[in-house]
Amino acid sequence: FTADRIRNFSIIAHIDHGKSTLADRLLEMTGTISTRTANKQVLDKLEVERERGITVKAQTASMIYEHNGRRYLMNLIDTPGHVDFSYEVSRSLSACQGTLLLVDACQGIQAQTVANFYLAFSQDLTIIPIVNKIDLPAADPERIVQQMESAFELGAGEALMVSAKTGINTEQILPAIIERIGGPVADRSRPLKALLFDSWYDKYVGVVCLMAIKDGQLMKGDRIVSSHTENKYEVMEVGLMYPEQVPTGALYAGQVGYVVCSMKNAKEAHIGDTFYRLKQPVDPLPGFEPAKSMVFAGVYPVDTDDFSQLEESITKLTLNDASVNVQKETSLALGQGWRIGFLGTLHLDVFRQRLEQHKHACQVDGTYHLRARLVVEKDGKETIVRTPADFPSPDTMPHQRCTLQEPMVLATLIFPAEYLGPMLELCGMRRGEQKEYQYLDDNHVMVRYVLPMAEIVTDFYDELKSRSSGFASFDYEETGYQESDLVKVTGHMFVSSSSEALMAGGQMDVLLNGKPVDALATVLHRSQVQAVGRDWAKRLKNVIQRQLFEVAIQTAVGSRVIARESVPAMRKNVTAKCYGGDVTRKMKLLNKQREGKKRMKRLGSVDLPQEAFFTLMNKD
Ligand code: GTP
Repeated sequence: FTADRIRNFSIIAHIDHGKSTLADRLLEMTGTISTRTANKQVLDKLEVERERGITVKAQTASMIYEHNGRRYLMNLIDTPGHVDFSYEVSRSLSACQGTLLLVDACQGIQAQTVANFYLAFSQDLTIIPIVNKIDLPAADPERIVQQMESAFELGAGEALMVSAKTGINTEQILPAIIERIGGPVADRSRPLKALLFDSWYDKYVGVVCLMAIKDGQLMKGDRIVSSHTENKYEVMEVGLMYPEQVPTGALYAGQVGYVVCSMKNAKEAHIGDTFYRLKQPVDPLPGFEPAKSMVFAGVYPVDTDDFSQLEESITKLTLNDASVNVQKETSLALGQGWRIGFLGTLHLDVFRQRLEQHKHACQVDGTYHLRARLVVEKDGKETIVRTPADFPSPDTMPHQRCTLQEPMVLATLIFPAEYLGPMLELCGMRRGEQKEYQYLDDNHVMVRYVLPMAEIVTDFYDELKSRSSGFASFDYEETGYQESDLVKVTGHMFVSSSSEALMAGGQMDVLLNGKPVDALATVLHRSQVQAVGRDWAKRLKNVIQRQLFEVAIQTAVGSRVIARESVPAMRKNVTAKCYGGDVTRKMKLLNKQREGKKRMKRLGSVDLPQEAFFTLMNKD
């Protein structure tokens, strides 16, 4: 297949608008999969994706289609559906020349459709609008076309009206791709230039790379070099995803296929890297920005004996997800573990679920620490604040002349006009700044806001849904950092009646099994401090069992106390369960109690069982 007989395209759609169904339909129409296996949603491979019905990792498949007596190689490059993965969407799009923009005929344009449209638009892709599910009785394709015209400035008559499920009009799609989307610009006679746009780890053959061949050809046995690392590799196998790996011996300019080479470690596969033939260097294609972790969480084994097993699983999972960032971390309270960075909270959830599929008992501390940034003004030095422990202490701050910054997002919200009031109010409460306001049709509004990421990662989505009776849709993309008044809130407990505790400064950190809990602190915007401080104090009170002395609880910013609670003392009658006259047993227990009391006083602390700690950290 020469470049003019190749079409590289993707499908972008909001969740549940029918992307997988349409992909299956196209594979079936071209005989790539049999009708019997159809509707199994071939492209959604990972277990967790099937389970949750969302596409996380992009998958790709090739098909062969005959149009006007000519055979075409059609490469469908799948894109993940959720906002957290827009990084994966944009890298998949970089291998395409066009995209199908799929919209549900009942639901209409959703926020994610808009966000994905802009990603495609900014990469100069040809966009084919498709209205899906026209078979449904509630379908209103005319209204959807009107929405598309106002949101995307698409011309009338451009949209196709189909039903991926029943097949109505789906025969128009492949011809439209051939006629409207151009073939890739590619030159077979030039030296090899190949773009690596995806990779995964296969337990039998090792690292499998997906490459788009921009120029030249790539054959089995070739020796290739990475522009990024200058590492050399021998090509063991190349082929097409048809829809599984089918070796072809060679890939030519314009094609998209898989490459297995002597790459040992998935970390060597840098997304966006350009490969060339040994001794024939080329100018590398513009690479991608590496994925930035926006949310960090600590992961610790429940049982320390599981440490190495858990480590192995984490390593395996990260082999197939380069956007997860892992660092070892030792917490005084929780022992050895990892601080893992994710693209967003859904990404974290998916990762957590995959770990569970590996049958591991692990604990994820539920406070998502956002990536804040500390910039020291005099030398422009930047430090990323990954955990509250990285937060500069209030005493050193003024001397250093530094500013704190927090990550911001550009959010798109679409909702029926009757919810305008509650929606604008919500964005205002969350420190949002309006950027755009537009009616999509007679009763649908689209607004775009710049919001702090910290305001949307927790319960924003739930609030949005409840304030709009479930009708609002929401999506966002990162827009960099903005200076912000961030502070660190900490939780403390102390023995209020103990003079020893007072002597020690009157304030102790929360201890877990006798060690300070480093994680009981969080970084927040100053406006959130009151609410969170009070909530924490109440929660602490609920998880702490009564002790042998009165326990005072405080949450504070530096030395300023935000909220106080106290847990009254209780004399535990440890002998209550000993009936009869077994004096030795009674004595033993009483001694134990005395010992315990002494130990606690010595530490001046409250012992919190590990489970209580996790209950505290995980919201709900
Ligand atoms: P994500 O992978 O989560 O992004 O979802 P998706 O866009 O791939 O949606 P999927 O193909 O899983 O379809 C969602 C639901 O819509 C499924 O229950 C499909 O059977 C249904 N569906 C898809 N296309 C049509 C259609 O043309 N008509 C009708 N009636 N239902 C459809």
